[in-house]
Amino acid sequence: MIKKTTVAVIFLCSLYVNARASTDLSTEQKLGNSLFIDRDLSLNRNQSCSTCHSLRGVEDKPAAFIDASNVSQGTAVSAGSPRNAFGTLNTPSIAYAAFTPSFGWDASKQRYSGGFFWNGRANTLAEQASKPFLNPVEMAMPNAWELVSRLKEKSYYVTMFATLYQLDLNAIPYRKDALPGQSEPAGVAPIFQKLTEAIAAFERSPMFHKFNSKYDFYLAGKTTLSTLEQQGLALFNDENRGGCADCHTSQLTEDQAGNVVPPLFSHFTYDNVGLPRNYKIPNRPKPNLGLSEREDIRQQDFDKRELGKHKVMSLRNIALTAPYGHNGVFTSLEQLTHFFNTRDTLGSVKNNLSAEFGKAGWPNAEIKTNLNRTNMGNLMLSRDEEKAIVAFLKTLTDDYPLWGRDPLVPPGTASPFEDYLPPEPISQNKR
Ligand code: HEC
Ligand code: HEC
Repeated sequence: MIKKTTVAVIFLCSLYVNARASTDLSTEQKLGNSLFIDRDLSLNRNQSCSTCHSLRGVEDKPAAFIDASNVSQGTAVSAGSPRNAFGTLNTPSIAYAAFTPSFGWDASKQRYSGGFFWNGRANTLAEQASKPFLNPVEMAMPNAWELVSRLKEKSYYVTMFATLYQLDLNAIPYRKDALPGQSEPAGVAPIFQKLTEAIAAFERSPMFHKFNSKYDFYLAGKTTLSTLEQQGLALFNDENRGGCADCHTSQLTEDQAGNVVPPLFSHFTYDNVGLPRNYKIPNRPKPNLGLSEREDIRQQDFDKRELGKHKVMSLRNIALTAPYGHNGVFTSLEQLTHFFNTRDTLGSVKNNLSAEFGKAGWPNAEIKTNLNRTNMGNLMLSRDEEKAIVAFLKTLTDDYPLWGRDPLVPPGTASPFEDYLPPEPISQNKR
């Protein structure tokens, strides 16, 4: 029975949440937000983080933090700031990324986990944020000094860096005024460091982890799943059927302090699920080697045990983030689920340009070493069971109070897990 006081509390909470959504950014997060959407911070002043990780939702759905043109046009990779520059990997959603633990070796399980990017090469969110600015197929700034010169153009940044970090942008000369052979001023590196920390702070703000999907309200006992969704959840969890939860965690857990922790749908490890090569990526890049792209890992991995392994990404908001996989070879959740189910049984086709791709067969795995045959490839699910899993995946879309039209969860209902926050950044050695 719902008491009147409960109703009043829920009402007040929802007012609080609505107010919080727009204004509850700290000063540092607001700076991070400005930097995140600032196209002047790319070579041709035509690209920002938000170009590839859009902050805008479509219709009544939340922002999915991916490249909207990937979804609308089915392109596997994003264009960069320079003309004809393209990435080689599918842009992942960065919602919930802040919950990724730092990269490390789990000795008890004999595997790597944590870290940012498909191969975990950035250890913290701030370190990750330093990469796109200088990546020649992304924002393509030639060096950190040029980047700081762009910051200097805006008085807002000059003020904010002074107030928040006691760093004086005016003390750095514009790169264009440099003397021939002049090396980077010592003040540049600390400014670049703070710029990345401000962006990381923004990525830890509540809009990136809403925890208000249908599944969250179901876990909190506020609503029910349909029969199909319920069946999909059971298959997702059942080790002898879908077995997806083995890698994409789906249950409530408790932290050391006894607080309830909602599932992130990833245990942040690495695996080779056998994706076929994607021949639709411009410039036909070589197959991506996953963890083995990293010099530090390649040097110690004599048995090639990490070759072809990519990060288990969170599945939250997955219905909004097509295409799928590190190379974006799958265009829909239906196709991906069919692949995990029938990878080793369907027959074979030449490549993903074939009209029979996913119908008469699948191409060979791009990297055959370390192919996971234990958890996937021949799940013996019926077509209806595949559909049930997809229906369940669609319950992971945030803003359910807005799009769900569910009287049990009306617009404005607060997330049941809004107090669950990403870990604070590991303190870095200040230069
Ligand atoms: C041109 C498109 C593009 C731009 C611009 C871009 N990204 Fe990305 N982002 C990607 C791609 C592609 C990946 C995966 C690349 C990889 O794994 O090597 C990625 C990965 C990430 C990840 C890792 C997610 C995870 O869970 O491991 C984060 C976080 C991120 N980007 C944030 C940013 C920030 C912050 C900026 C701006 C400074 C930015 N991105 C600019 C395309 C882009
Ligand atoms: C053994 C661990 C494991 C199991 C079990 C597993 N996955 Fe995954 N999943 C991964 C990895 C690793 C990736 C990334 C692979 C890549 O891109 O090369 C992935 C990727 C995905 C993606 C695409 C994510 C994105 O951001 O593009 C979806 C969707 C997905 N899995 C759903 C499922 C479903 C549904 C099941 C059960 C039928 C399942 N997974 C079982 C490890 C697993």
